Order: sequence, then structure tokens, then C-alpha cells
Amino acid sequence: MREFILLALKAKTSPNINLDDLVGEGRLDLVCRVVSSALFLSHKIRRDTVIHVAMSGPRLPPKMVSFYGSTWAGITPDEKAIAETIKKALSKGASLALGEEKDVQPGVKVAKKAFETLVKEKSETSQLIYLHPKGEDVRTFKFEQNPVFVLGDFLGLPKKTEKFLDRLGAKKIKLGPNVLFSSHCPVIMHNELDRKEVY
Ligand SMILES: C[S@@+](CC[C@H](N)C(=O)[O-])C[C@H]1O[C@@H](n2cnc3c(N)ncnc32)[C@H](O)[C@@H]1O
Repeated sequence: MREFILLALKAKTSPNINLDDLVGEGRLDLVCRVVSSALFLSHKIRRDTVIHVAMSGPRLPPKMVSFYGSTWAGITPDEKAIAETIKKALSKGASLALGEEKDVQPGVKVAKKAFETLVKEKSETSQLIYLHPKGEDVRTFKFEQNPVFVLGDFLGLPKKTEKFLDRLGAKKIKLGPNVLFSSHCPVIMHNELDRKEVY
């Protein structure tokens, strides 16, 4: 399995999302594109992939919305459909207490859980990697099976988050010579792993 964790620092966590202004809702447009690029191929879902969106914008942080390719059903890859699902998740999860999780629909869960908590859990069971333009080249890096990737939103990963990841023993890799959009990264990462047959 491949897992992605997107740190969406400004993504709104209260359910009153304006679907006509995803940019203004803490760059939910970007979040939806990352979810789509992590889970979809042409006419196909990547059943071996999970993406967690760690949202810490106003007013009910932290919120973790997780999408599971293995059980995902009925959502198309377009931004608006994914945004509607996130809105529904935030609505269902509005009164969760810290540590609680709820099913939203097949393949989607919402939890009141912080980015740091999830990342720490993953570091104990999986090869934890963060995507950064100044890391080791993806083409020389030795992957283990079931890797977990952390990536930032338009703000990138804060320095203190990088230090936290370093302390957990996470590896830092780059996908190429240019700084990419967050939504480009899962596609490139998947392609590299497909070629190396790392699942
Ligand atoms: C738009 S970039 C962030 C740019 C931000 N201004 C910064 O300085 O980090 C969003 C995220 O994509 C990932 N990313 C972008 N380019 C990358 C590259 N060449 N290699 C690996 N990851 C990259 C990183 O996780 C980054 O946090």
C-alpha cells in the first residue's frame, strides 16, 4: 500500500464551506487536486492507495479526512465532487472529540486527529518519507514496501515540521529539479513507484 499525508495548514475545518470559492476556503482547490492525483488513474482508482488530509485551518482544527482507494465508491475525480465530500466529512465530524473517528461514506473517514499524531504512528510501522525540493533524488533512493509520504500545501512544510519529521527518522526526497505544485507530486511519485514495483 502507498499512503500520502497532505499537511493543509490553512484548509478550513468548519463545515460551512463555500463550494464556489474553494481558493478562499484555505486552498481547498489544492487539497481536492491532490486527492484526485493521489487516487485516480484514467478510468481507474488506485485501490492500493490512501490519502490523509490533515487540515488545520479555522475553526474546528485539527481534522483529518482520509480517502481509501480500496473501498472508495461513487466519487468522480473532479474537484467539486471531492470538495462536496470534504464538506460532508467536516459536517459529520463537527462534534468529534479528540481521538474520535467517523465513517463518512464508503472509502472516506473523518477524525479529530492532529498531523503529528498520525505521522508519529506511521513512523513506527512504515518507511516515512517527506517530499521536499532539497531531498535525495527519488531515482537513487531505496524504497521499502508500503511507504508513507508527507507533503506540504502551497506554504510548504514549516521548518518546525521538518525538524519533527527528522527527529522521527523520516527520509527527505526530491522528485526533480523544479519546485512543483503539491498536486503534481503524487502523480510523479506513483509513476516512480510503478516503475520500481513498490506497493
Ligand atoms: C508548492 S510546494 C511548496 C512551495 C513552498 N513555497 C516551499 O518553499 O516549500 C508544495 C509541496 O510540494 C512538494 N514538492 C514540491 N516540489 C517538490 C520537489 N521537486 N520534490 C519533492 N517534493 C516537492 C513539497 O512537499 C512541498 O511542500
